[in-house]
Amino acid sequence: HKKHAREEFIGSIDQGTTSTRFLIFNHEGEPVASHQIEFKQIYPHPGWHEHDPIEIVESVVNCIEGAVKVFKRRGHALNTIKAVGITNQRETTVVWDKTTGQPLYNAIVWTDTRTAAMIRELKKRDGSDKLQDICGLPLSTYPSVGKLLWMMENVPEVKKCYEAGNLAFGTVDAWLVYKLNGGPENNVFVSDPTNASRSMFMNLETFEYDDTLLNFFQLDKNKLALPKIIRSSDKESYGKLASTSLKGTKITGCLGDQSAALVGQKGFSPGNAKNTYGTGCFLLYNVGEKPVISKHGLLATVAYHFEGKPVYALEGSIAVAGSAVKFLINNLGFVPSSDKISDLASTVEDNGGCVFVTAFSGLFAPYWIDDSRGTILGITQYTQKGHIARATLEATCYQTKAILDAMEKDSGKALQELAVDGGMSNSDLTMQTQSDLIGIPVERPAMRETTALGAAIAAGLAVGVWNDLEELKGINREGSTTFLPEMPKEKSKEMFERWEKAVKQTAGFV
Ligand code: G3P
Repeated sequence: HKKHAREEFIGSIDQGTTSTRFLIFNHEGEPVASHQIEFKQIYPHPGWHEHDPIEIVESVVNCIEGAVKVFKRRGHALNTIKAVGITNQRETTVVWDKTTGQPLYNAIVWTDTRTAAMIRELKKRDGSDKLQDICGLPLSTYPSVGKLLWMMENVPEVKKCYEAGNLAFGTVDAWLVYKLNGGPENNVFVSDPTNASRSMFMNLETFEYDDTLLNFFQLDKNKLALPKIIRSSDKESYGKLASTSLKGTKITGCLGDQSAALVGQKGFSPGNAKNTYGTGCFLLYNVGEKPVISKHGLLATVAYHFEGKPVYALEGSIAVAGSAVKFLINNLGFVPSSDKISDLASTVEDNGGCVFVTAFSGLFAPYWIDDSRGTILGITQYTQKGHIARATLEATCYQTKAILDAMEKDSGKALQELAVDGGMSNSDLTMQTQSDLIGIPVERPAMRETTALGAAIAAGLAVGVWNDLEELKGINREGSTTFLPEMPKEKSKEMFERWEKAVKQTAGFV
């Protein structure tokens, strides 16, 4: 009744690995205004990857102002924006002095592998085999904890601040909520379970920081300030924007970007799965109200925690997807922009025998080989740029296939259909290849800002813009594209076997 054509909007901050966006959604889940800013990627040494935490906050503020301008120009009033949601790159680690609100080092990004040697040592420590049962994650360079330990050991200011009991740790959501609320003055220091669970010291069942985990990493919780973990959708605890044109607007939703994409795809039922081809690529499979600890190289993670019980997912994390396309553009000069890579790949009929294991940050799921590095195999004088472009796009599809195989083993069920989104999903060639390799339909929605939509949904549910998940099922349904498997099974099997053979040859190269 009150639902139609109502002037109610939700803002969504989408703070990703390479760019920040702010989108404003209407009640139908359509974006009506947006602004995007790419920010600096800092690579000080091979394998190191950092962001400037202040630049991240500034990019958010500038995106809000940019989108608000468009929103007003389209004739909308700012007081129709009922709340703001946040979604963000996960694991990326920020530390700051809680007395001043100043960061003490660059953020160490989730892709960073500087901790590889440290992780190898930690694996030898007593109890290392028990961690995954508690937190859902395997010990690797990927979660936040190694990044935090590295800063505590290697950055004197961080160490000093910790010893003085003033060190605050946060993933990007916690950092943003804290800064957007005005920093130490208001001291809103919180995180949601989809983000907090990626630290490696959150208990996946209790949603509390776990003493066994903290003790294993020798972290003293009396000296280290950790954000309070609250639901992903909450009317009060995330505070409100202390400045910008939207000053006073409440923040009422928070989700790690991959969880947000699952929500934005409306993957609310057990058995639903989505794959997001962003900087990296992440497959999340809804397993319902009990976590499933993987035996086959996947992660157990929190899908979302709204009203009632939390919902969990099995996750297959691929470290490199769109970043490999960026590599072909920025480092090798193959094409001028990402949207041209599919055209280049289409200049050839197949990969010409090339396999590109894009293990720039080691290999994540389901392999977990920290010391694997990018490797192109099968090059001959016949090889053209097109073959390498094609092999690059295929790499993510092969890894997705390996993840689905693992998921089937863990869950005992075969997936029926895969929902996709993210930059690389724009490529028809890639999505067709994906469907060919996994042998099931690949479903691509028309509106692919599903990550931002997920955060808007979390925020909107808290303030009654939407009342329940049922009400959301109808949004963003129209105009989707389905890719059906076309390749003969023998052929796709043979391609995948070559990939697996290549993977084995990439380890131990550091
Ligand atoms: O775990 C890292 C992930 O959250 C980053 O996502 O979309 O920036 O590749 P994306």
